[in-house]
Amino acid sequence: MLQSAPHIPVLLEPVVRGFEPVAGGLIVDGTFGAGGYTRALLENYPKMRVIAFDRDKTVMPFVQQIALNFKDRFQFIQDCFGNMAQHLKEPVQGIVLDLGVSSMQIDQPARGFSFRFDGPLDMRMGTSEKCAADVVNQFSEDKIADILYQYGEEKASRRIARAICQAREKALIQTTAQLAHIIHQVMPRPKDGADSAARSFQALRIFVNDELGELERALAASKLLLTSGGRLEVVSFHSLEDRLVKNFLMEQAGVKRHVNKYAPDSSAQKGNFKIITKKPIVASEEELRQNPRANCAKLRIGEKQ
Ligand SMILES: C[S@@+](CC[C@H](N)C(=O)[O-])C[C@H]1O[C@@H](n2cnc3c(N)ncnc32)[C@H](O)[C@@H]1O
Repeated sequence: MLQSAPHIPVLLEPVVRGFEPVAGGLIVDGTFGAGGYTRALLENYPKMRVIAFDRDKTVMPFVQQIALNFKDRFQFIQDCFGNMAQHLKEPVQGIVLDLGVSSMQIDQPARGFSFRFDGPLDMRMGTSEKCAADVVNQFSEDKIADILYQYGEEKASRRIARAICQAREKALIQTTAQLAHIIHQVMPRPKDGADSAARSFQALRIFVNDELGELERALAASKLLLTSGGRLEVVSFHSLEDRLVKNFLMEQAGVKRHVNKYAPDSSAQKGNFKIITKKPIVASEEELRQNPRANCAKLRIGEKQ
């Protein structure tokens, strides 16, 4: 089994600094991973407590290390962050989300996230009902095309979906290499040197883990859970996530009207949140040199009023 690279926390310094005003409070780290944020928060702010969530049970060795060091200042809940409101018994002063997958997950061929390694076509971070192989082997051509378009912004979604459905008639698509090969055969390599399977893999991962639904549920929960002055910090890695966070904060700050077809009369929320980051914080050149995965990361911070 390939040893996965340790996860280097992205935008760690601004994430930690953003919680300075609530240094004595309770923070929810919704995406514990290897515990990089949790550890830095507990080390930097001696009065802070952290409740961390992760849907992936393989993070337990990292949980045990932190529990040993920080004892009753730390608690871990193995569940999706979209369910945080159901678990928390008290209001909180901070919520941080570092979206997407960790290096441990993406670099582990057996987890099936990456087109760079061959492994079973899985892509589940936790215990989702369906894995990526179920989607490509069982869903209709139209549904697959919709997923690739909606979650990968893949313009050639119909062409790729057709190729997937033709290929699965000959043999079930069970590995990441099989799927990447099918996509490569119908998709030329983009001029920017990216892999032509990247968007489709991203789309399947987002769908399998309901990543955008999770984010929406966590944003809604933040309105209920954060005390006045409490902070929401979200690090996103692609435009679909960032758009959700940006629009949420703008609506809650009263800068943008909330458009909801189920509640057409809802007017702009007047000042539920204050936007702390007028523009998202991105990685410095120094951080990018040390960690190229910080390349697309954007941090947005809002403060509950
Ligand atoms: C980018 S890593 C976080 C790394 C962490 N900030 C650190 O410094 O080590 C994302 C982690 O969040 C978890 N995750 C992603 N979506 C989740 C969700 N909806 N609920 C709970 N955990 C989730 C993944 O399993 C992964 O371990």
